[in-house]
Amino acid sequence: MSLHEIKQSLKLQLAEKLDAVELNSLLSLLMEHVTGWNQVQQVLHKNDPLTESQLDQLKNAAKELAADKPIQYILGKAWFMGKEYFVNENVLIPRPETEELVDWISEYAHIINKPLQLLDIGTGSGCIAISLKLELPNCSITGLDVSSPALEVAKKNATHLNAAIEWVEQDILMSASLPASYDIIVSNPPYIPFNEKANMQVQVKNFEPAIALFVTNEDPLIFYRIIARLGKQYLNPNGQLFFEMHYDQGKAIVALFDEMGYHAELLQDMFGKDRMIRASLKPR
Ligand SMILES: C[S@@+](CC[C@H](N)C(=O)[O-])C[C@H]1O[C@@H](n2cnc3c(N)ncnc32)[C@H](O)[C@@H]1O
Repeated sequence: MSLHEIKQSLKLQLAEKLDAVELNSLLSLLMEHVTGWNQVQQVLHKNDPLTESQLDQLKNAAKELAADKPIQYILGKAWFMGKEYFVNENVLIPRPETEELVDWISEYAHIINKPLQLLDIGTGSGCIAISLKLELPNCSITGLDVSSPALEVAKKNATHLNAAIEWVEQDILMSASLPASYDIIVSNPPYIPFNEKANMQVQVKNFEPAIALFVTNEDPLIFYRIIARLGKQYLNPNGQLFFEMHYDQGKAIVALFDEMGYHAELLQDMFGKDRMIRASLKPR
């Protein structure tokens, strides 16, 4: 069977599931993954026969797409800040909003213009920690996560992208201390209350790790509160906290930080939604 023939057959199979434009781009990614041919080469080789093993891989991937598995988990990779990251179902797929958080932090660090100590809490694939190390090579960066399989992925990404980072396995909710003191503590913590699960996309709620997504309905700001509490002890003078957050929780987090002695500032994402927050301790 040629590349063109299998592509047509998979298109028919998935036509009801996905719209034509999305389907075309997903199939092109799958073809590239399996054959190694980019889009132009796929056109040039469209009549070439594929091997049995390539056809099997494509058919299996189509079944996974039909079952709503995100393409990033099927390919085992995702893109973040122009770099390729390994991903599997132990880590959140890095999101474009998080790139904006990284940009905000690196702008700030460039202004400070000295080697800084940074901690990324809930590092997952390592995308924040690694991007910051690549942007700010003079800074020392630690990535922390409670999940040992997530840290395995982060370490693999750091090796692949040549970023020297210290990794720590620690449950931040059970911690009275941090590994050191820091100029910047960043976190994209779990922040979706469980009662929103029913309305979420199947691709997210059925495939991405629950531990990366959800918090209890009773205490949705727990990560912000605990990290702010630790920050009082482990932030260096003029230190800053940076977070990603639920678009709906901005006001509540600002109020929480204010109560805890921080001055906080919200930043909107590319869709105009409150999505990031930074906080520094008020002068006493
Ligand atoms: C929303 S994901 C963020 C992953 C990655 N930093 C990113 O932005 O794509 C949250 C991460 O927090 C980690 N996590 C959840 N509970 C934690 C805890 N109690 N202590 C430390 N990390 C935790 C999860 O394993 C997950 O990797």
